[in-house]
Amino acid sequence: ARKIIIDTDPGQDDAVAILLALASPDEIDVLGITAVAGNVPLHLTAKNARIVCELAGRPDVPVYAGCDAPLTRKLVTAEHVHGKTGLDGPVLPDPAMPLSEGHAVEFIIDTLRREPAGTVTLCPLGPLTNIATAFQKAPDIIPRVQEIVLMGGAYFEVGNITPTAEFNIYVDPEAADIVFKSSIHIVVMPLDVTHDALVTKHRNDAFRALDSKIGHAVAEMTDFFERFDKEKYGSEGAPLHDPCVTAYLIRPDLFTGRHINVEIETQSELTLGMTVADWWGVTDRPPNALFMGDIDADRFFDLLTDRLSRL
Ligand code: BDR
Ligand code: CA
Repeated sequence: ARKIIIDTDPGQDDAVAILLALASPDEIDVLGITAVAGNVPLHLTAKNARIVCELAGRPDVPVYAGCDAPLTRKLVTAEHVHGKTGLDGPVLPDPAMPLSEGHAVEFIIDTLRREPAGTVTLCPLGPLTNIATAFQKAPDIIPRVQEIVLMGGAYFEVGNITPTAEFNIYVDPEAADIVFKSSIHIVVMPLDVTHDALVTKHRNDAFRALDSKIGHAVAEMTDFFERFDKEKYGSEGAPLHDPCVTAYLIRPDLFTGRHINVEIETQSELTLGMTVADWWGVTDRPPNALFMGDIDADRFFDLLTDRLSRL
């Protein structure tokens, strides 16, 4: 199984991404979960990550709290999408498992130094603050990362938090810039993909039909999460952004994309956090990311439902 660290700001869709990873031990070995400030402040994302581990019956997974604010900017949150707790929808008990001791950034650094080089994949599902901070503090870990598979950015879909920026990149563009310039192999799941991973009524019914604690919790999470996109964009269901990352580790063939150059806008006020993706290869800037464009959504939901049934 592939060893990963999930860096996350749960978030209903982050929660589903974590559940999918924990339900897939043959393919994915979750070494730890690092929480970052994003959808809601850090104390809530660190709590929500533990709620999700306990929901999966995995209180043994270490959860670390990380950075509580972007590298240089003021934190922007998304309660308007995820609710006050970040995990609104199902009623879940407060976690009994403690946070692991130490800072998430130290955990990322120590893990990459300890494990053989090229064997640990980073899976960022929120703003890239923890990852960039680890790279700044310990540049020696950069060549040891196997791959980064992240949710963030957009090309044709442009933006969801501003007209031109996707939330995860917008919240900490300086951190994203560091990550995209790291020369690590990066796989990007942008809005172009995730806006096709919609929890339609039929797909939501399939979660509920699992008739398990997890099936109901996921159905309630996506019910809540749906409101925002439905009202705002008229979409026919909640977009499961972050689970695209963990699904890719199990079934990369569900996604297609292009190896292209992606630069992060950190200067312009108007387009801050934009992923300037050279989809058409109009520059000679070297490719630094596998930028996905398509998803086989039906198979993605079949996979997700099947894996959730195993928990
Ligand atoms: C991303 O922002 C968050 O609100 C979601 O959890 C996802 O990671 C989508 O833009
Ligand atoms: Ca997220």
